[in-house]
Amino acid sequence: MIEVKNLVKRYGTFSAVNNISFEAAPGEIVGLLGPNGAGKTTTMRILTGFMPPSEGSVKVEGFDVLENSMEVRRRVGYMPERVPVYLDMTVHGYLTFWAKLRGMKQPNTQVNQMLERFSLGDRRNKLVRSLSKGLRQRLGLAQALVHNPPVVILDEPTIGIDPQQVIEVRETVRALRENHTVLFSSHILSEVEQVCDRVIIIHKGKIMASGTPQQLAKKYKPGVHLYVSLSGRSQSEIRALLESLPKVDNVREQAAGFVLSSRTDADLRADVSSIIAKHQLTLLEMRLVEVTLEDIFLNIVDKR
Ligand SMILES: Nc1ncnc2c1ncn2[C@@H]1O[C@H](COP(=O)(O)OP(=O)(O)O)[C@@H](O)[C@H]1O
Ligand SMILES: [Mg+2]
Repeated sequence: MIEVKNLVKRYGTFSAVNNISFEAAPGEIVGLLGPNGAGKTTTMRILTGFMPPSEGSVKVEGFDVLENSMEVRRRVGYMPERVPVYLDMTVHGYLTFWAKLRGMKQPNTQVNQMLERFSLGDRRNKLVRSLSKGLRQRLGLAQALVHNPPVVILDEPTIGIDPQQVIEVRETVRALRENHTVLFSSHILSEVEQVCDRVIIIHKGKIMASGTPQQLAKKYKPGVHLYVSLSGRSQSEIRALLESLPKVDNVREQAAGFVLSSRTDADLRADVSSIIAKHQLTLLEMRLVEVTLEDIFLNIVDKR
């Protein structure tokens, strides 16, 4: 469980995080989505007790990050944006080091389990410096999970690794869902949509929107969107015909056709078909357009 209330973080006079509040419950993967500089890393560092808030309260599993930082550290697994690498430690030594920092006295069993789980067993005695970027990322995940924390905080864990490794990381995160509260940050919209149950969109240190991807779609881009591509007349004539349809509120050019939008849930396909028949046009393509998180994101961020 994560509870953030009216969190503010100032660097000098600049507010990197400006009065944000949110909660994350067990069994939930919450995505912190925002462009570079939005305040994701700052928020996560505060949540892990890495640095203090300027204002507001932050609790993890009921413990305040300022008042009970050791209790918080025991309960949080954190994978920072850049996995800190202690190049001259062995893989086994690195995990043991982190487990002890989180208050584990005899971490050997758990360390071995992590080596097994992340297929690092055959490298246990290798130096961290000998690992590839992808393997270091796996080690970073193992480090975050070694003390079996109920709360897991992952700061852009898929940055800079290859596509196959991205898939592995996403699967690992999805698998955590059952027994953990997960906060996952990314600036990649499609990734957040795939991985997270709920999304918090932050921009310039403020929460702009939050909800499930479906809720956001409904709220910020309601209605129906249909892509049609027609031939038989000039594009401007076709556009005018489409705009003349009573249920169509907006026509936007896209690729070789147009996206029609209706604020109501009206089915526009019959209306388009009647235009095709009446004006002897040829239908090249017609499909419903899914509202993506990207549309919503641009919609929200553009307006402010
Ligand atoms: N230590 C710092 N000192 C001054 N400004 C900082 C510091 N860390 C981050 N910032 C600024 O705070 C803002 C938020 O940064 P950050 O939390 O890293 O965003 P994100 O992780 O979303 O990219 C940015 O404008 C960044 O330049
Ligand atoms: Mg960041």
